[in-house]
Amino acid sequence: MKHFPRIAVFILLLLVVIGLLLYKDYVQKSYSRNLDGKCHVASWNQVHTDSEFQSYIDMFSRWLWRRLNLSVENNQNYTSTSILGAYVYPKLISISLTSQYLSQQKIYCRYYDCKRRELLGSAYESVVFPESVVHCPRRAGAEFVSVSSGFNSSTPEPVRLSFKAYDEPVHDLSVCVAPLYGNESKWLQIVDFVEHMKLEGATYFYFYVGTINDYDRKMLTEYVRTGDVEVTFLQDKFERPAYAWHLLMMQDCHLRSKYHSKWITFLDLDERISSGTEYNNLLEVIESQPRSVGELHVSVLNILKYEDTPEKFTSMEQLKEDMMFRKWTNTIDPTWNASKAIVRPEQIGIMFIHYAIAKQFGVNTVKLNASQAAVRHYRNTLHRMEAPDWHPTAPTKSPTVQRWPLKPEFVESLSNAIVAKVQHVYCKVPVNCTTIARYLWESRQYPNPCISMSPIF
Ligand SMILES: *[C@@H]1O[C@H](CO)[C@@H](O)[C@H](O)[C@H]1NC(C)=O
Ligand SMILES: *[C@@H]1O[C@H](CO)[C@@H](O)[C@H](O)[C@H]1NC(C)=O
Ligand SMILES: *[C@@H]1O[C@H](CO)[C@@H](O)[C@H](O)[C@H]1NC(C)=O
Ligand SMILES: *[C@@H]1O[C@H](CO)[C@@H](O)[C@H](O)[C@H]1NC(C)=O
Ligand SMILES: *[C@@H]1O[C@H](CO)[C@@H](O)[C@H](O)[C@H]1NC(C)=O
Ligand SMILES: *[C@@H]1O[C@H](CO)[C@@H](O)[C@H](O)[C@H]1NC(C)=O
Ligand SMILES: *[C@@H]1O[C@H](CO)[C@@H](O)[C@H](O)[C@H]1NC(C)=O
Repeated sequence: MKHFPRIAVFILLLLVVIGLLLYKDYVQKSYSRNLDGKCHVASWNQVHTDSEFQSYIDMFSRWLWRRLNLSVENNQNYTSTSILGAYVYPKLISISLTSQYLSQQKIYCRYYDCKRRELLGSAYESVVFPESVVHCPRRAGAEFVSVSSGFNSSTPEPVRLSFKAYDEPVHDLSVCVAPLYGNESKWLQIVDFVEHMKLEGATYFYFYVGTINDYDRKMLTEYVRTGDVEVTFLQDKFERPAYAWHLLMMQDCHLRSKYHSKWITFLDLDERISSGTEYNNLLEVIESQPRSVGELHVSVLNILKYEDTPEKFTSMEQLKEDMMFRKWTNTIDPTWNASKAIVRPEQIGIMFIHYAIAKQFGVNTVKLNASQAAVRHYRNTLHRMEAPDWHPTAPTKSPTVQRWPLKPEFVESLSNAIVAKVQHVYCKVPVNCTTIARYLWESRQYPNPCISMSPIF
């Protein structure tokens, strides 16, 4: 009898604990069931801003850039308005369009919740500027956005906002890669490009693809798997020449990298930037600049490339011979013609292929000479460059060609990285079909893998 109260207290406590656990479970389940049609709005998305301007200076700068007509393309005017990408930043939403003829025109930002129901009273009148870009204020709970030319006119299908509301950039240096198209093989160029820029301090790559073949795509897919690369496939209802995507890609990648990367550079697949100094990589050269610098211009070494890159991997010996930085090292440069830029995307108002057209107030530009950094631009003499006058700015008719190779230690590291990647992607290990478990194919009534590895349907 003496122990009865203790046991009672114990049982009571046990019941309370079980009750609490069941209650917690119930609460969690009903929470995730979400049958009432309400959207869960995460804390980062409970933000409302009143205008697309971040400050009065921002408002004034953009007014000025518009008055100066700093961004007018006016081409592809047979296309309709549709959305390439939509991005949500801490205080702003930006949308990139596939249109290139709407600069300065009025356009409405439209906002939708998680179920694509328009948020009541949320529409906002903005303007297309720069070309192909619309800036919009934030709306709490908006997960999709669209645009419309009039308050009541039709909207292209809303697009999910891509999260860019980072407090601090995720990457120090990233690369926007101009759209891939054309017939020349890409696999070796891709692995060389990515591994080279990684050694220079880049940690992320925004690739854009117009066309690519299945063989070359395997290399991109491998980098997507490891989180080094994201790929945007360029397609639209309206046909256009592949190169017409380049300026759209510039605007989109500028928006895509804002708040995600501290520094970005815009390169074509046949260009890489090399630090000219022995002990510092490109990122270290960039970071050694004064804080006021938001744009760096990099001069170009045009490097003669007399052949297309090989179509397929054949052997390791051949690969080492084919590596672009071994095979092609002749140049007459450096030159500032077609130089490229490295920028802080948040400090740039309008980006062009080679430089920033408009920067925020107080942001400085510096030029890096070739002993600090240079773009190595492989110039394929078979196609765009005629052999005798491949260099339009050559000081004389027969310029002196000099070798300008990469540093031996860099060559060593780059070569090893390329070998490892190519081995992983293209040295396929065949399976002995007799070792495949019988039940795997028999249970599905599939053909014997020694006859066919895949059913015909
Ligand atoms: C900008 O373009 C508009 C319309 O085409 C024109 O009226 C205006 O004069 C231009 N402004 C400048 C500074 O070129
Ligand atoms: C579209 O562009 C073409 C070529 O520049 C031009 O001839 C045509 O007038 C433009 N159409 C419209 C509706 O602006
Ligand atoms: C939009 O349509 C509604 C209903 O038809 C109308 O009341 C409203 O005035 C229109 N708004 C504009 C700006 O045209
Ligand atoms: C593309 O390359 C393949 C293989 O080298 C060749 O057979 C084909 O004719 C080329 N196509 C074009 C459009 O150049
Ligand atoms: C750069 O090269 C192009 C040809 O590709 C030429 O038309 C242009 O004048 C050159 N620019 C300078 C500044 O040398
Ligand atoms: C390149 O620029 C650096 C830094 O401004 C300077 O110290 C160096 O002398 C320059 N080199 C050449 C070859 O101009
Ligand atoms: C495939 O595996 C079977 C069973 O393990 C073995 O007898 C045969 O020799 C293997 N064939 C080849 C080509 O390796």
